[in-house]
Amino acid sequence: MIKLGVVFGGQSTEHSVSIVSGSSVIKNLDDKKYEIHQIYIDKAGKWYENFDDIKSNGIYKIGEEPIDIKPIENIVEYLKELDCVFPVLHGLYGEDGTIQGMLELLKIPYVGCKVLSSSVSMDKAYTKAILNQAEIPQTKYIYLKKEKNKYIYVDDKFNEKEVLADDIVELVYNKLRYPIFVKPSNSGSSVGVIKVESATDLIRSIESAFFYDKKVLIEQGIIGREIELAVLGNTKITVSDPGEILAAGTFYSFDSKYRNSESKTVISDKLLDANTKDKLKELAVKVFKAVDGSGLARVDFFVEKETNKIYVNEINTMPGFTEISMYPKLMENIGIKYTELLDNLIELALEK
Ligand SMILES: Nc1ncnc2c1ncn2[C@@H]1O[C@H](COP(=O)(O)OP(=O)(O)O)[C@@H](O)[C@H]1O
Ligand SMILES: [Mg+2]
Repeated sequence: MIKLGVVFGGQSTEHSVSIVSGSSVIKNLDDKKYEIHQIYIDKAGKWYENFDDIKSNGIYKIGEEPIDIKPIENIVEYLKELDCVFPVLHGLYGEDGTIQGMLELLKIPYVGCKVLSSSVSMDKAYTKAILNQAEIPQTKYIYLKKEKNKYIYVDDKFNEKEVLADDIVELVYNKLRYPIFVKPSNSGSSVGVIKVESATDLIRSIESAFFYDKKVLIEQGIIGREIELAVLGNTKITVSDPGEILAAGTFYSFDSKYRNSESKTVISDKLLDANTKDKLKELAVKVFKAVDGSGLARVDFFVEKETNKIYVNEINTMPGFTEISMYPKLMENIGIKYTELLDNLIELALEK
């Protein structure tokens, strides 16, 4: 029996999504192979052992919190007893290299990307920089920082220049075409992401994105389809076929993702022509390699309507893991069932 710690919850804006993902993982793990330790982190960052019977009672619903919990007094000692940890955490302090760093220090094998790939993939500005270097197609963008209430424009070579609100309006006018997307560099589950249709709403949207992070991206809006691919492996990489997001609403916002049942995901052979499909698969692996990924990731794309051009949107190193999430569904589509997928991920963790 492998002593496996499954960590969920966490301090990020995706806390409640992680609870659903984590409990889905627990529900689907083969309990003949694993001695499962359910570890819950609350929003304040406190760790608990969780004794809710997820196997029998089923997964949590969005917004539901674990009930039967007992604080873990000594996290380090607790973790050191485990053979492997599966951090089913999304967003900051989970998907960003921090918990990965802690597990590295403690020499505990863990599922998923390591420190560097996690942190680079979490921070959209830095993902962009790496993908630029790899000449991977992505949307045009403007990178801003906020320091002591001043806006700083950071160019492609990381030169910094203080700018005023009017300068930002002009920068956007010169570089991009509305609609554009404003987003915190560190975001997830679409929290803080705003579609902006005109200059009138630009500064207000930027300000609201700065509420979530000191770094903000303004991106060219792509009118097209949202396509996602799943990647699995350390050195020998398995890549899924594409899946499509059919978002309810004007884009795939938080509400559209989790509260609007009209949003759909479609996985079908007929989604795209063979050529586009091959290109997407090749790019997904290239992105994964470029960020030094290992274990798993979901790579998200836009395919532009008018031109059929492909743009990489982002890479998620701990994608949604509910039974209806895209990542496990994409894997299932190529013949890797959820429970088997979990076995594979744990094997990959132990192999590293
Ligand atoms: N440049 C863009 N063009 C078109 N739609 C976008 C763009 N950027 C973001 N979106 C929309 O916003 C959603 C969330 O943005 P994303 O960058 O994926 O952030 P998150 O990391 O929170 O998922 C996307 O799924 C898509 O619907
Ligand atoms: Mg996204």
